[in-house]
Amino acid sequence: MKLSNIVTLSGFLVASGAISQQYPLQRNVTRKPNFLFIMTDDQDLQLNSPAYTPHILNRIKEKGVDFVNHFVTTALCCPSRVSLWTGRQAHNTNVTDVKPPWGGYPKFISQGFNDNWFPVWFQNAGYNTYYTGKLMNAHSLSTYNKPFPKGFNGSDFLLDPHTYSYYNSTYQRNQEPPRSYAGHYTTDVIAEKALGFLNDALESDRPFFVAVSPVAPHSNIEPGALGRSRQTLMTEPIPAPRHQHLFPDVKLPRTANFNPVNRTGVSWVSNLALQNQTVIDYEDHFYRQRLRALQGVDELVDQLISRLEDSGEIDNTYIIYTSDNGFHIGQHRMPPGKTTGFDEDIRVPFFIRGPGIPAGKTVDHVSTHIDLVPTFFELADLPLRDDFDGTPLPILRESATVPHEHVTVEFWGVAVLEGEFSTIGPDGDTHFSNNTYKSARILGEGYNLYYSVWCHGEHELYDLTSDPYQINNIYASENPTFHLLGRPLDAVIARLDALLLVLKSCQGSTCIEPWQVIHPDGSVHSLKDALDPQYDIFYQQQPKVSYDDCLDGYLIAHEGPQVGLQYRDGLSWSAWA
Ligand SMILES: *[C@@H]1O[C@H](CO)[C@@H](O)[C@H](O)[C@H]1NC(C)=O
Ligand SMILES: *[C@@H]1O[C@H](CO)[C@@H](O)[C@H](O)[C@H]1NC(C)=O
Ligand SMILES: *[C@@H]1O[C@H](CO)[C@@H](O)[C@H](O)[C@H]1NC(C)=O
Ligand SMILES: *[C@@H]1O[C@H](CO)[C@@H](O)[C@H](O)[C@H]1NC(C)=O
Ligand SMILES: *[C@@H]1O[C@H](CO)[C@@H](O)[C@H](O)[C@H]1NC(C)=O
Ligand SMILES: *[C@@H]1O[C@H](CO)[C@@H](O)[C@H](O)[C@H]1NC(C)=O
Ligand SMILES: *[C@@H]1O[C@H](CO)[C@@H](O)[C@H](O)[C@H]1NC(C)=O
Repeated sequence: MKLSNIVTLSGFLVASGAISQQYPLQRNVTRKPNFLFIMTDDQDLQLNSPAYTPHILNRIKEKGVDFVNHFVTTALCCPSRVSLWTGRQAHNTNVTDVKPPWGGYPKFISQGFNDNWFPVWFQNAGYNTYYTGKLMNAHSLSTYNKPFPKGFNGSDFLLDPHTYSYYNSTYQRNQEPPRSYAGHYTTDVIAEKALGFLNDALESDRPFFVAVSPVAPHSNIEPGALGRSRQTLMTEPIPAPRHQHLFPDVKLPRTANFNPVNRTGVSWVSNLALQNQTVIDYEDHFYRQRLRALQGVDELVDQLISRLEDSGEIDNTYIIYTSDNGFHIGQHRMPPGKTTGFDEDIRVPFFIRGPGIPAGKTVDHVSTHIDLVPTFFELADLPLRDDFDGTPLPILRESATVPHEHVTVEFWGVAVLEGEFSTIGPDGDTHFSNNTYKSARILGEGYNLYYSVWCHGEHELYDLTSDPYQINNIYASENPTFHLLGRPLDAVIARLDALLLVLKSCQGSTCIEPWQVIHPDGSVHSLKDALDPQYDIFYQQQPKVSYDDCLDGYLIAHEGPQVGLQYRDGLSWSAWA
């Protein structure tokens, strides 16, 4: 794995190589750029779904930059979306679930974010803002006007409990009452709405931000339909009739972690039974239905970009494509779903094209969803906010980006299983509780690691360089001479745990430059720097990340030590300032 070289240019750190030097910035500075943002729901990268959407590949990815190491910070729709639109980790939004009391739209409101989030900031900066599709969970027939989401010039939201019903959706426009689209295919409905908003946006002299959030390829949910265990019934997505016969022979990639013969993972994952052929066949079908459902999105993207071309605004518009979180099907024996920290769930597609961005490039610099709002601010030439936990992506030549090699991944509560063979929970239900963990995904020069601490005290450490499918948990290697990165395993784990102790409660700059908290003299910027043997004793003394018990939400008093030690010199250290 190769990271972009980092060079210092006029006081800023910018990434070189992939983008910057050869490509001068070609923006018309007299006018701010427009944005078209498309976000699918639960779309994987690891299972290769983008390969089946030719328009998205040809018209966005190949015309711009593909961030190949792009991650979400919480692998669940609502927390991930709130983090994205506020630029904060979930521990700084405390919107950690899809429904009250820990999450959902009512929690977003009670946390005060309706006055303090992206559309409000961008509108105040002179943008016309539009949004159609799914905003967040528990934004429903009973909560949509309590109060209305702020900051949009035009909005048309999908509402619960009809959000995921492909043929019986409800949309709610501006301040109008909700309207049922029973019998209409949801992606075709949203395509019409998105084109309408794009037309509105193109009529005004102000720059625009148009966000389109179709529900595909999320599982289908019929309002009120319950499964055998009386829990919400989530079935494979439904394609439009014109796409339902596509890809008859496609199967899930049979990677090493697909239904593995040996148990993998920890906690509930490690107790799952091997899947039989009936289940595997169903999972292949489930996967094909997702690829088919994505075809409607592919057409929608094609139509929106054609409209931008016709308008003459295409060269002044950034076009962004991503998903709110990833998805797994059969990996580690798991039925379809998200919520875990495995790469399938946290890695998502992220493509961006637009003024000054070169075509057909890839960037392997680590990036996350909380970096997106800071990136949009920078592209619109707005000053960054102090409460951003992320940093702009290295897209512009003189970017304020601070390169980081880590992603902080957090989760509280329940793992929900989807599809027909999902009633395998403890009581024959589709839920596993105590799916509460903190983790760090780290990709740096010479290393590619995932480290997690679970609420029951279990740990995981995967070396993705030798084990890309996260099969071998080396945390408790029984071989005492086991070395990683040229250091004894326990020396590496001590650094990773100290890093996670900072990240699990970081805020603003400490999320972006966590090593600075531990080494305030600025001598350590990476895991590699921290591994220097001169720090071995210091790292052995650090308090360890732990939980007192397993909760479904964020109560600090139950989450173990909060403050670690700071390195002063070779002889002394003290608690973080
Ligand atoms: C820049 O945008 C302004 C306003 O849209 C336009 O009048 C001007 O011609 C543009 N200049 C260039 C160099 O494209
Ligand atoms: C969009 O909303 C802002 C804030 O209310 C307003 O100033 C602006 O004129 C609106 N744009 C249009 C096209 O109505
Ligand atoms: C749509 O959902 C409503 C509410 O659950 C239900 O009464 C209605 O029958 C459904 N319509 C269709 C066409 O499925
Ligand atoms: C499964 O575990 C056994 C016993 O530890 C080991 O010998 C075997 O190589 C493992 N198989 C795979 C495919 O990892
Ligand atoms: C396969 O496993 C599923 C889920 O456990 C079960 O319902 C089904 O009966 C099994 N089928 C066969 C043929 O064993
Ligand atoms: C979850 O963990 C708590 C202890 O933290 C325990 O009491 C409870 O039984 C666990 N629940 C399940 C389903 O494992
Ligand atoms: C998060 O929200 C829960 C539920 O409202 C609340 O009990 C808890 O104190 C909050 N946690 C923090 C750290 O603010």
